[in-house]
Amino acid sequence: MPDAVERAVIVLNAGGLIGLPTETVYGLAARADKDDAVAKIFQAKGRPTGHPLILHISSISDLDRYAVNVPASAFELAQQCWPGPLTLLLNKTSEVSHLVTGGRETVAIRIPANTCALKIIEQCGNGLAAPSANTFGHVSPSTAQHVLDDLGDRVDLIVDDGNCSIGVESTIVDFTTHEPQLLRPGGFPVEDLEFIIGKSILMPSGESRASGMLASHYAPTCTVTLVNDLTEARIVNEANPQSRILEHADNIPLYAASLYAQMRQADDDGISMIIAVLPPKTGLGFAIHDRLTKASFL
Ligand code: TXA
Ligand code: MG
Repeated sequence: MPDAVERAVIVLNAGGLIGLPTETVYGLAARADKDDAVAKIFQAKGRPTGHPLILHISSISDLDRYAVNVPASAFELAQQCWPGPLTLLLNKTSEVSHLVTGGRETVAIRIPANTCALKIIEQCGNGLAAPSANTFGHVSPSTAQHVLDDLGDRVDLIVDDGNCSIGVESTIVDFTTHEPQLLRPGGFPVEDLEFIIGKSILMPSGESRASGMLASHYAPTCTVTLVNDLTEARIVNEANPQSRILEHADNIPLYAASLYAQMRQADDDGISMIIAVLPPKTGLGFAIHDRLTKASFL
């Protein structure tokens, strides 16, 4: 899509916002060095400014432009997993504005695995700040249409690159703590990351650092009831005429890839309750388990 890439770069360089395709979910992107443009991201999403944004870069050689004191194991993950659904939380350099980091001295960075996104970032010559392109608290977008549905004319251009292949957000690992901590399970299985660095990634402790760690996030309008298997799902389904079962326990990648589209579809169809079969809390299933649990909070 050379044309779309060119147009996206023009919009970004002029301080506009674009819908950016990535392998996880669509992002709402602005040039990270343009404070006015970054400020528009918070307005468009209705997101409080204290909630930091992920900085998307296109090459590992840009890492030291934005991050300092990168631990060896974090660098190892960057080399082995990028481009890919992994975000590293690192100490920031003065290049990164406090608007992007919500006033923090740390910055979340990733290289997305999407050819259009990589070309756009590269041609801008600067990292792009981008949260998921949904309204605050809503389900993330896994298609360009979802971005349009949520943000409409609050986004200047949407680059449509079809369905996101992974469908859930990136895994976030904090490397600014003594031992690495998992801030958000996501598209990259944490077991695989632990294998690469040869040590455990701990569950987060201390104050909440990722907004995705808040209760009632990633939620559709209908209620989400969690069950352990299909038999249980059918019983709940029988008792609730306006309900719909959500499950792909036999195909976890498909479950992840279709999760947000199915939640949005249920709302469009006027369904009052989603009955979701929880996948095992391992591999990619961990991220689905996490999002379903958050969506089930009232
Ligand atoms: O897959 C993804 O990560 C997608 C695509 C677009 O890249 N992005 C995404 O962004 O999910 P967002 O803003 O919806 O979620 C990013 C999470 C938030 O929970 C935010 O609080 C956390 O990352 N985060 C970002 N910078 C941080 C920082 N400096 N300290 C702590 N948490 C941070
Ligand atoms: Mg989000």
